[in-house]
Amino acid sequence: MNKLKFKNGDTMDAIGLGTWKSEPGEVTEAVKIALNNGYKHIDCAATYGNEAEVGEAFSEVFSKGEVKREDIWITSKLWNNAHKKEDVIPALKQTLKDLQLDYLDLYLIHWPVAFKPEVSFPEKAEDYLSLEEVPLIETWNEMVKAKEQGLVKHIGVSNFSIPTLESLMKETDHTPEMNQVELHPYLQQNKLLEFCSRNKINVTAYSPLGSGDRPDAMKAADEPSLLENPVIKKIAKKHGASAGQILIKWSEQRGTAVIPKSTNEERIKQNLMSAGYQLDEDDMKEIADLDYHFRYVNGKFFEVEGNSYENIYDD
Ligand code: A2P
Repeated sequence: MNKLKFKNGDTMDAIGLGTWKSEPGEVTEAVKIALNNGYKHIDCAATYGNEAEVGEAFSEVFSKGEVKREDIWITSKLWNNAHKKEDVIPALKQTLKDLQLDYLDLYLIHWPVAFKPEVSFPEKAEDYLSLEEVPLIETWNEMVKAKEQGLVKHIGVSNFSIPTLESLMKETDHTPEMNQVELHPYLQQNKLLEFCSRNKINVTAYSPLGSGDRPDAMKAADEPSLLENPVIKKIAKKHGASAGQILIKWSEQRGTAVIPKSTNEERIKQNLMSAGYQLDEDDMKEIADLDYHFRYVNGKFFEVEGNSYENIYDD
């Protein structure tokens, strides 16, 4: 499997287990299955509402001793209601407590969007804080402190566009080490990938399978299916793989990390095995042609009349 490299020499397995939308009652088992079957990368976030249950799996597996904490890459993310400087490290410490860990491998600012501290999910414009009130550099400087304190080994961002990355990078000597974004054949993000590569920012692909298990409120009525795409299905048949495996392999082969979510034992195992396939030039060309800048997670849910957030992806 491809490994992503960081400036200090650390490496991260390209294929990780995603935990967004994994039910608290299922995620402990899913993470245990993953760790016991060779996954070395688990992606978490405070807002997924299941870090305590993920932490139970870490505690149980690591205490048995067969899988060592230091061999696993664990990512989590700062939620939007903890962007103020006094809230960043406490939020991180809560995540560490829930995950039953001493440190994270990677901590990300989840979105370039801030909420008031008491708001988990905003309902009205007043629930938001503008980026003038809480500039991203204020949040980022705390992320840097968390790294200096040894609470996290690497720091990065998620859902950042090129202009948002550029404006942050102008204000700091600490370039984000990762940008985690939606990335799949319908949203190939070539310009963003090129920008990140030029600036030595690693990229992780989320929603690689189209996140069909999102809540209905987040779905468009006539969403296209990635797993049912005829080109993907044809390539899958050619390689004797599943459509999901082709989508995962495509991301891995492009040099990004990729975090398919599953709570199903067979699919958790199958997704890791994607690394064993090899897409040829024709496959890559055919998949390249599927790009049409379609987002499943369109970010419009942060655009409320009267708040300061508009077109957060700068599309
Ligand atoms: P399940 O958890 O039952 O396996 P994404 O990673 O893009 O968010 O997509 C997650 C969705 O894809 C979930 O509904 C998950 O269901 C499903 N899924 C995960 N792996 C596969 C696979 N190999 N083939 C088909 N569907 C999959």
